[in-house]
Amino acid sequence: MSAYYRGRRAQSYDQRWRNFTQLTLEETLAIIDIEAIGHHAMEHQRAPRLLDVACGTGVLLSLLHERIPTASLSGVDASRDMLMQARQRLPAISSLRLEHAIVGPGERAGLPFPPDSFDLITCTNVLHDLADPVNTIAGLRLLLVPEGRLVIEDYARRSPAVRLQHR
Ligand SMILES: C[S@@+](CC[C@H](N)C(=O)[O-])C[C@H]1O[C@@H](n2cnc3c(N)ncnc32)[C@H](O)[C@@H]1O
Repeated sequence: MSAYYRGRRAQSYDQRWRNFTQLTLEETLAIIDIEAIGHHAMEHQRAPRLLDVACGTGVLLSLLHERIPTASLSGVDASRDMLMQARQRLPAISSLRLEHAIVGPGERAGLPFPPDSFDLITCTNVLHDLADPVNTIAGLRLLLVPEGRLVIEDYARRSPAVRLQHR
């Protein structure tokens, strides 16, 4: 995992990336059908279960908690320093589970949850950093209930940043 998410860099992450985080997570929330997730869980007479993969400092989990206060929330991240900030940000509710874990290819994306655990899995601003995103996504799929949703947001260059002209 990149040193970018450790120590002082992790501590100042929110400050340095505030605008970016706000913009990208607003986009993410806009495509999550909160009502459908709530309905589905209600049909099964339980609270909605949400997982944020590579949750960083917990901003998205906190926004999801505001929108679905009854949901049980899980977050995993490869950086203990980022997780420490997520712990400080999020309310001390019994339905919150934050774990140090490295997501990757393999069964259930290498994460410590049984199959069919979640109604919603989010994964923002990290896919570009993963060695094998296709197989990681396949593993995450197994953690979802059959009608579950996987919401992925990431960035990519549309075209080369610098155009070189050969003479
Ligand atoms: C750019 S931050 C994004 C944080 C958060 N998802 C957001 O959108 O604000 C990337 C995060 O991914 C985590 N990360 C990178 N590779 C990971 C991996 N293989 N497994 C779990 N977390 C990872 C980093 O520790 C960091 O917290």
